[in-house]
Amino acid sequence: SSMHTELEKLLDTASGAEKELSRKDFDGFKKLFHRFLQVKGPSVEWIKIQRPPEDSIQPYDKIAARGLPDNVADSLNKLVVVKLNGGLGTSMGCKGPKSLISVRNENTFLDLTVQQIEHLNKTYNTDVPLVLMNSFNTDEDTKKILQKYTHHRVKIHTFNQSRYPRINKESLLPVATNMGMTGQNADVWYPPGHGDIYASFYNSGLLDQLIAQGKEYIFVSNIDNLGATVDLHILHHLVSQPNGKRCEFIMEVTDKTRADVKGGTLIQYEGKLRLLEIAQVPKAHVDEFKSVTKFKIFNTNNLWISLAAIKRLQEQSAMDLEIIVNPKTLDGGQNVIQLETAVGAAIKCFDNALGINVPRSRFLPVKTTSDLLLVMSNLYSLEAGSLTMSHKREFPTTPHVKLGSSFTKVQEYLTRFESIPDMLELDHLTVSGDVTFGKHVSLKGTVIIIANHGDRIDIPAGSMLENKIVSGNLRI
Ligand code: UTP
Repeated sequence: SSMHTELEKLLDTASGAEKELSRKDFDGFKKLFHRFLQVKGPSVEWIKIQRPPEDSIQPYDKIAARGLPDNVADSLNKLVVVKLNGGLGTSMGCKGPKSLISVRNENTFLDLTVQQIEHLNKTYNTDVPLVLMNSFNTDEDTKKILQKYTHHRVKIHTFNQSRYPRINKESLLPVATNMGMTGQNADVWYPPGHGDIYASFYNSGLLDQLIAQGKEYIFVSNIDNLGATVDLHILHHLVSQPNGKRCEFIMEVTDKTRADVKGGTLIQYEGKLRLLEIAQVPKAHVDEFKSVTKFKIFNTNNLWISLAAIKRLQEQSAMDLEIIVNPKTLDGGQNVIQLETAVGAAIKCFDNALGINVPRSRFLPVKTTSDLLLVMSNLYSLEAGSLTMSHKREFPTTPHVKLGSSFTKVQEYLTRFESIPDMLELDHLTVSGDVTFGKHVSLKGTVIIIANHGDRIDIPAGSMLENKIVSGNLRI
C-alpha cells in the first residue's frame, strides 16, 4: 500500500542504530494503522453494556480489613514501580518533561516518586526498582536528571515508548514524507499514548530482565498522580490469590463526582470487565456516560499487572486495544490525526481482572496550576515523598479552585504568590485577571477575586478573606 511505500522511503533516510529502532516503531505503527483501517463503526454496542458483577469491583476497605502478613518484604521484592513519563509540561507552560516540574518544597514529581520508593526499600529492607517509560520527548532531559539519584536506595531503569508518524487527516499518509527521519521538526512524530507500554516494555528487553530477577508484578501510574503510592494491602491481595484464580490485573477506580465526568469507567462487556472511555461513547449516550448515577466510578490509571501475563499476551499478539483517534492541527495549519491506545484498555485481555474502589486520596493528579496550588498549600503535609491531607482540615473534601488565565503558566503563577495562602478552611476559590497575593494571606469559605481588564488587585500581606467577593475597586 502507499502507507508502506512512504514508510520505507522514510526509513531509507535513517542510518545505523536509528534505522533499527525506527524499523521496530514502524512495524508497530503498521499494525495499529492496519487495525484502524479495518475497524468500522463504534467499538462498543451500547445495548450490550452491562453493569459489572457485584464482586468484580471490590471496596478497598474490605481488602485492607484482611490485614498484612509478616512477610510484606517478600511481596515487595516481587514488585516493580512503573511511572508513565512520556508527557511534557506544556499545559502548565513548561518546556521539558512534566515530571521535572517542582510541586512541593522544591521537589519535582520525580523527586517525590524516588523518595517514596527509597522510603519503602529502607523500611522493609527490600529492592523495589523504579522504571520510567519515557518518550522521545522526555528521554534526554530525564536521563540527565537521573544522575542525581545514583546514591539513593532505588534502582532506576528507563525504556522508551514508540515514536509513530502523525498522518494527514485526508490523505492518511505520514506528514514526515518529504522531510526524512532526522533533522526536521518534531511535530511530525508523536508518542502513541500509554497503551504503548505493553509492546515497548516487552521490546526493550527490560520486561524479561525483571522476570529473570524474580519480579512478578508492576504497579503502573501517571507520574503526575501524587496519590499513586505503593499500597501494601492491594499488593498483598494480588500476591495472595490461590493458584488457578491468579489475578493478572487490578484497576484502581474511585467514586465519580460531578467534576470527573470525563474519566473512563468499568463496564461488563461480552463476559469481561472492560474500560469504557468517553471517546468510545456514541454521541447520543454522552450525557448518560457522564452521569454519576449510572456509571459510578472512574479509572484512576493506578494499575497492578502481572509481568508473566504481559509477556504471554505480547507473544500471542493478543492485545487489541481500542484505538483512540486524536485529531490535531499543526502550527502550519495542517490537520492531522494520531492513533493512540490507553494502558487501562488492556483489562479485557487479562485473566481474573479486578477493580478495587479506592479512597479518593489515591487520585491526586496535578494537571493545572489550580491543582498545584492545592498540593503546595497547608492542606497537605509531606512525609517521605507522600502527600496526605492535613488532619487540621475539618471537611474531607478538597476545595474547588479555579485560577484564571494569568495563572496558567507555572512561572507566572509563582510570581503571583509571595507565599501560598492558608487554605485549611477554604471551600471555593475563583481568581480572574491580574491578581497578586502578599505573604500570609488566609482564605476561608467562598472567595472570589476578579480584576477587570486593565485593573490589578493586590491582596495585601496578612489579609484574611472569608466569604468575600473582591472585584475592581468594589469590595463587598
Ligand atoms: P496525560 O496527562 O496525557 O493524560 O497522561 P490524562 O489526561 O491524565 O488522562 P489519561 O490517563 O490519558 O486518560 C497521563 C500520564 O501518561 C503519560 C503522561 O506522562 C502522564 O504521566 N503518557 C501519556 C505517556 O507516558 N505516554 C503517552 O504517550 C501519553
